[in-house]
Amino acid sequence: MQPIDQAFRPLAAVRAGALTGRVRVPGDKSISHRAFLFGGLAAGTTRIEGLLEGEDVLATGRAMSAMGARIEKKDGVWIVDGVGNGALLEPADVLDFGNAGTGARLTMGLVGAYDFSATFVGDASLSRRPMGRVLDPLRLMGLQVVSRSGDRLPLSIHGPRVAAPITYRVPMASAQVKSAVLLAGLNAPGVTTVIEPVPTRDHTERMLAGFGASLETTIDADGARHIALQGQGSLRAVGELTVPGDPSSAAFPLVAALIVPGSDIVIENVLMNPTRTGLIETLLEMGALIEIANRRQEGGEDVADLHVRHSQLKGVTVPPERAPSMIDEYPVLAIAAAFADGTTLMQGLEELRVKESDRLSAVAKGLEANGIRHEEGRDTLSVTGMPDGKGLGGGRVDTHLDHRIAMSFLVLGMASEKPVSIDDARMIATSFPKFEPMMAGLGANLETIAAK
Ligand code: S3P
Repeated sequence: MQPIDQAFRPLAAVRAGALTGRVRVPGDKSISHRAFLFGGLAAGTTRIEGLLEGEDVLATGRAMSAMGARIEKKDGVWIVDGVGNGALLEPADVLDFGNAGTGARLTMGLVGAYDFSATFVGDASLSRRPMGRVLDPLRLMGLQVVSRSGDRLPLSIHGPRVAAPITYRVPMASAQVKSAVLLAGLNAPGVTTVIEPVPTRDHTERMLAGFGASLETTIDADGARHIALQGQGSLRAVGELTVPGDPSSAAFPLVAALIVPGSDIVIENVLMNPTRTGLIETLLEMGALIEIANRRQEGGEDVADLHVRHSQLKGVTVPPERAPSMIDEYPVLAIAAAFADGTTLMQGLEELRVKESDRLSAVAKGLEANGIRHEEGRDTLSVTGMPDGKGLGGGRVDTHLDHRIAMSFLVLGMASEKPVSIDDARMIATSFPKFEPMMAGLGANLETIAAK
């Protein structure tokens, strides 16, 4: 659990020959955070296999340890001894979430219904991100917040003596907000209900049910999901928990293989939960050669192996209602679109502005720097491709402490005529620590360059 060192680490990608081989991407980030959170809360021992050992998830693990959970790694398996629902301890020190929005927001929900204080800090990126979306519903349950920076980190919270269960309609498509309210509901008497007009990733619901929480999801006449959770029930450790491969990390070798001529790769064991497969759906519409093989169930989730070959892509329109199922994949979709015949229009992107960076702006600037035709709207992006990559590349991209901007533009450099460099590769460790050796193993050329 080393902290990320301080110096910028620029990196360049130089056009590669065909990418070939079989790879396994790291465990799903969303499920890994929740494995530490719920394992640390539930009474008994949970053994986690395939956990993403990225900086973000390790920060969540440290926070749960600070609140009484016992977490250790033995023979490649993470063993978590939980405290029991309602029995978290007041953390003695600040909780440092680094770059991790999911860890910070879900933990706020988890401790937001406890009558104790907790202080949340993070890096420059996390300190810019809005926390009001989580704090506002928690305030309705009785939470007090002390912040000098308008509901941004650093901030301290103190939950009420007895939390009030609420019914809350989530105003934006956000699994983090949904999850934070449900987690606060775990320590509130009575039923807490979250209404979700647009479905988002459902890992919290699935995993809480697995840990024995009593919750029920119904769909109303307008298609909105109502998730009702009975508070103050007991949570029991699940024993074994296996984390499938992260589709948001698989997206990088996947798009790289589609755009580098001659490529033919297999990405094994990728989570295929339908709330996460919007990128694959979109790429298939663009004409991508992706074979979804060996579909199976693992740890209560659908997984499959993806056989991916270099493809002639064509531009498509990606409708706004698909955004929640591929919200983290737009930066790398923009790179695929740069190699498609015609224009790809992406709609409904407002949430991209509040990710680890303003991703809409960061992607547009990176495309600009590399000679890719595009248009940035308030919540749209259109990209016009150059199928053979001719003339593309040559730019240096500012990553704004954003791992997905870093990896997306390195993927661009694997197929563009001229190399692409990024200002800083450090943040890749938050979600995909082995990205560089894995891509090099497939045949990519990544070159360290001197800091400016
Ligand atoms: C996540 C939800 C999404 C996603 C993030 C992980 C989660 O964020 O972007 O990477 O694990 O719940 P929002 O809830 O802000 O959309």
